[in-house]
Amino acid sequence: MRVLVTGGAGYIGSHTVLTLLEQGHDVEVVDNLVNGKAEAVRRVGELAGRDVPLHEVDLTDADATDAVLARGFDAVIHFAALKAVGESTQKPLEYYANNMGSTFTLMDAMRRHDCRTIVFSSSATVYGAKAPVPYVEDYEPLDSSSTYGQTKVMTERILTDVAAADPAWRVALLRYFNPVGAHPSGRIGEDPQGIPNNLVPFIAQVAVGRRDRLSVFGGDYPTADGTAERDYIHVQDVAEGHVVALDAIVGGDAGVRVWNLGSGQGTSVLEMIHAFERASGREIPYEVVDRRPGDLPAFWADPTKAEQELGWRTSRTVDDMCRDTWTWQSQNPQGYDA
Ligand code: UD1
Repeated sequence: MRVLVTGGAGYIGSHTVLTLLEQGHDVEVVDNLVNGKAEAVRRVGELAGRDVPLHEVDLTDADATDAVLARGFDAVIHFAALKAVGESTQKPLEYYANNMGSTFTLMDAMRRHDCRTIVFSSSATVYGAKAPVPYVEDYEPLDSSSTYGQTKVMTERILTDVAAADPAWRVALLRYFNPVGAHPSGRIGEDPQGIPNNLVPFIAQVAVGRRDRLSVFGGDYPTADGTAERDYIHVQDVAEGHVVALDAIVGGDAGVRVWNLGSGQGTSVLEMIHAFERASGREIPYEVVDRRPGDLPAFWADPTKAEQELGWRTSRTVDDMCRDTWTWQSQNPQGYDA
């Protein structure tokens, strides 16, 4: 298949592009390089042994987006979006304009060029604070505490409405839990700008000496060790989930399908710190501070639906995630900019 990956220069996008290439697909990337890196796409090409065309285009630019879609694709995997949870609540207009505007422009161009197959990068954040754990796909109403999360809820809704109006659309909504880790080669990985917001990139930067210590947000949660629990999933498992989901919607009935991509297991912040210490052989200094506003105590996926319908389940452990993150971080201490 000819697949266009939006946001393919970013963290999950780049790993998915590599997996698609390894499975024999023909892939092009569109990315505005606000967060993504051209070097990531170049390295993916190097790993796969073939060049990957990169279109440096902002998807809110309708003419430029149309020109990319005019190249002809069978399917789109749509990652491109602003994703900093805290920042999204400070800059709601920017987040809604970018994440919703780019989706409108993209889908309009897809329709014009007769491409109606899309895999969308959604998030477990759409379940909101009231959903019972583990999260199950048919839970409603979707909600999210952040503007970032609301853009995921709204995009899911828009794709659903579009598919209801035109039965030619094939849509997969993939709700990821907490993707971490890196390709085992250490050539591609997560390269956050500035101070990392997310746990594992922060731990990795402490381990490599870029930061002094980790702040553990909250030690008084109602969990076994008092720290919050999340369902961490190796980015290679996430990437493989995209390829099997794409195959499923292409080979199955038209319409909307939704799957969780998670392991079904919770891991606490302290457990993750200790796993990373084992993987890296380095001590991770930390201090327990106040809870981070908006954080939930503990959640994880019910992964049954993806297993039954896609034959997909996670195959990599928390130790694998830490080992591969450490390989990436120690070989690229300054990320792609070194
Ligand atoms: C967040 C978002 C989610 C998004 C994901 C990846 C929410 C509710 N969830 O997940 O939508 O897809 O980021 O971008 O906003 N922690 C520390 N110290 C740190 C950083 C994190 O203790 O320096 C803790 C957090 O409090 C949390 C856990 O580690 O308990 C995981 O945090 P993080 O990696 O930021 O992911 P989420 O908040 O679960």
